[in-house]
Amino acid sequence: MKIERPRGTRDFLPEEMEKRREIERKMRKIAELYGYREIQTPTFEHLELFTLKSGEGIIEEIYAFKDKGGRNLALRPELTAPVMRMFVNECSVMPKPLRFYYFANCFRYERPQKGRYREFWQFGVELIGSSSYLADAEVISLAYDIMENLNLKFDLHIGHVGLLRLLLKDVEENVASKIMRLIDKKDSKGLEDYLNTISIDRDLEGKIYDIIELIGDRSIIEDAKGIIPNFDFEYIEKLCDCLDSIDVKYNLDFGIARGLDYYTGVVFEAYAKEGLGAQNQICGGGSYRLAHLFGVDTPSTGFALGFDRIAEICELQAEKPKVVAIVAFKGLENEAFKISRIVREAGVDAIVDVMQRSLKKQLSYANDIKADFAIIVGEEELKQKSVAIKDLKTGEQKIVKIDELRDYLKSV
Ligand code: HAM
Repeated sequence: MKIERPRGTRDFLPEEMEKRREIERKMRKIAELYGYREIQTPTFEHLELFTLKSGEGIIEEIYAFKDKGGRNLALRPELTAPVMRMFVNECSVMPKPLRFYYFANCFRYERPQKGRYREFWQFGVELIGSSSYLADAEVISLAYDIMENLNLKFDLHIGHVGLLRLLLKDVEENVASKIMRLIDKKDSKGLEDYLNTISIDRDLEGKIYDIIELIGDRSIIEDAKGIIPNFDFEYIEKLCDCLDSIDVKYNLDFGIARGLDYYTGVVFEAYAKEGLGAQNQICGGGSYRLAHLFGVDTPSTGFALGFDRIAEICELQAEKPKVVAIVAFKGLENEAFKISRIVREAGVDAIVDVMQRSLKKQLSYANDIKADFAIIVGEEELKQKSVAIKDLKTGEQKIVKIDELRDYLKSV
């Protein structure tokens, strides 16, 4: 019986995995260069962790289930809430700021399409303990460096949810939340219909539209001041100064609302310029307050990169390691195993026949798997404490003493 994969999940073959691991290595390297250290949290959490801020509505969008003990659990849809839970439980007394990074799978019950899966991976960071614009500048610069380093073509947009929140401060919380979601989805028709049904003040409605349409360089701050004069724009100005000083390229965009409810300040998103179609958001983040829900009020900021979307568009080629196939005449299988250990000790990948096939078939397999060299283990050579090495690209063959094999392999 053939069994299909669950909808929205994928299998990854070795070539794809090698590329993914290479991308992951680069991401880790850069996060570590910024002083971030890796953490891990459970794949499933108490459902409450995710409903506490977002409400029961979110259950529709996540994998929620009861375990055999009747506990309400959920597969993590993201890692910010789990990291905050971990911070409050395990590290709230550690010296601040804390710099954490993670690479982990997440699960969302979404309608699958190109770039949108039910199981996907995020590479993210959380910088915990600072409410300064410098913390936002650091995480934005880190996300930017990772995307630049992977040679991605992207647009970075930076906004501040405080503007919309200030406009909506007298609106009921669930109504404000719904408005933010429609803005986040860029669903202008849905927003218009919703604003009509709730008979919102005309002046306020006008201001919402004016703010979310503001996208551009720093000059839009002046326009925003005209719309919301009582907002403190100094924070955004200082952030822009800092990012300009380190040459980060971005657009300000006051229409960024973010889909998750916990953001309180600067928010940012990066969009791939090509290769992804509708699901082109490859990074999302911002500053938020979440830890207070679990007992410790701490300002934090962070982001998550959509690893699968990045893997899809990233042209990085994983470096192929040197591979040696050990092929042996019948009866010399154990000798082949011994030689394979010497090859591996030299740091070179060695593949040895485990099917007891003829020499010809072993050689043909070595070509099929694109091995670089074949070491041929034969009676005559063994008597001379030697093996034959064939370069499978040039066809050239040499006899090498087993004692000198390590050095020889290092030299080719
Ligand atoms: P998010 O924007 O929901 O933010 O997700 C971050 C990234 O994950 C998105 O930009 C997208 O690239 C990728 N992503 C989301 N859903 C899917 C999916 N179904 N399939 C493939 N990729 C997907 C967060 O999750 C926040 N926790 C980020 C954050 C960290 N904010 C502060 N710290």
